[in-house]
Amino acid sequence: MTKGWTKAAWRAKPRVQMPEYPDAAALSAVEGQLSKYPPLVFAGEARRLKKQLALAAEGKAFLLQGGDCAESFAEFSADNIRDTFRVMLQMAVVLTYAAKVPVIKVGRMAGQFAKPRSAPTEVIGGVEYPSYRGDIINGFETTVEARTPDPHRMLQAYTQAAASLNLLRAFSTGGFADIHRVHSWTLGFAEHDKAERYREMANRISDALDFMNAAGVNSDTANELSRVDFYTSHEALLLEYEEALCRVDSITGQNVAGSGHMIWIGDRTRQPDGAHVEFARGVLNPIGLKCGPTTTAEDLKVLMAKLNPENEAGRLTLIARFGAGKVGEHLPRLIRTVQSEGANVVWSCDPMHGNTIKSSSGYKTRPFDSVLREVREFFAIHKAEGTVPGGVHFEMTGQDVTECTGGLRAVSDENLADRYHTACDPRLNASQSLELAFLVAEELSSQREAARRVAL
Ligand code: PEP
Ligand code: CO
Repeated sequence: MTKGWTKAAWRAKPRVQMPEYPDAAALSAVEGQLSKYPPLVFAGEARRLKKQLALAAEGKAFLLQGGDCAESFAEFSADNIRDTFRVMLQMAVVLTYAAKVPVIKVGRMAGQFAKPRSAPTEVIGGVEYPSYRGDIINGFETTVEARTPDPHRMLQAYTQAAASLNLLRAFSTGGFADIHRVHSWTLGFAEHDKAERYREMANRISDALDFMNAAGVNSDTANELSRVDFYTSHEALLLEYEEALCRVDSITGQNVAGSGHMIWIGDRTRQPDGAHVEFARGVLNPIGLKCGPTTTAEDLKVLMAKLNPENEAGRLTLIARFGAGKVGEHLPRLIRTVQSEGANVVWSCDPMHGNTIKSSSGYKTRPFDSVLREVREFFAIHKAEGTVPGGVHFEMTGQDVTECTGGLRAVSDENLADRYHTACDPRLNASQSLELAFLVAEELSSQREAARRVAL
């Protein structure tokens, strides 16, 4: 138990990026209802993820976290969930094959609904509207009515998260994720160079499985190979929702965020004395903390002490999101802060949020080259500092969208309008995600080679 902590203590702290609900009675009725609903995840699962992340901190596992910027009610479908899950499985195969360590799969799924915004209002057609804050808070349509925060949306988000998680659990354990099906995960992908590379890798994996089968290695491990662990995560932004789903673990008496396995604190809500840090510090789940160009060494020290006072391995993942060309300026100073505190953290790279620009056609986009460059810089700096690059964090989808420019099947500024479906930030499409996985795989295998040379 975190001493003196309660799940409602955040209410006494300064809060930013949270909605003002005009109808207080409706809000408390929804909170009362949600607090009686079953949690979506259980303490034992969050603890298992924490153990796996502890391995990532040492370079003995690698974190792959990805999914929508913002899940939406309109885009909710079994096909969308399946396609994102499938691309993540493919990426995980590529990474496992290169790094020869387990890949921890964590979706930005089943709860990633609330969004921080750069301004509380926006002007459209000369009229000022409250900003859209994610489907769990208000609607995207530009009417004052839709943009007014409505607490009932929390119930719909909960229902969608529960149904999404149910499907993800079924896909993870029900046969879809069986490694013997490694070839079938490509179905529906357009032909390109990386698809061919993926197929070659899948052939080699199939060969290895045939060999193991022939050698009789399959009996004990068959079960392990036919299922995967898949976890959920989201930014714990809407604290009324988080508090209502917070539960006490009956085994340990500790508090657990029941809304998802891992929660993170965003770059805009990481004030050391703020409401979001206060909530996260008291739950046992693994916690992510976004680190941006404005993260100071002093703040990071205080945040690490607050969020992980026992220096527990796997508890804290620092998600670096500086922007291509800026990693060299910021990552080394924060790595040294972590080192000087002797803090145990997983370093993950989010190459999305520091690379958002407005395209010439007016769409918010991310040049794929900048995304790749930030990943390369992240790996190079860890190599120079002698520290462990423990994971990656992407906004991506299994759909063939045109939201980020570039990639092998070059999406241009003019193409952005073709299939721009995101409810918030631009995501990598399936082909760009796979291309990125191959780049990370190359970085990981060259790191592995270097370590082997040192060991010889
Ligand atoms: C996000 O992950 O969608 C996000 C808003 O990131 P950040 O807090 O790093 O800007
Ligand atoms: Co985003």
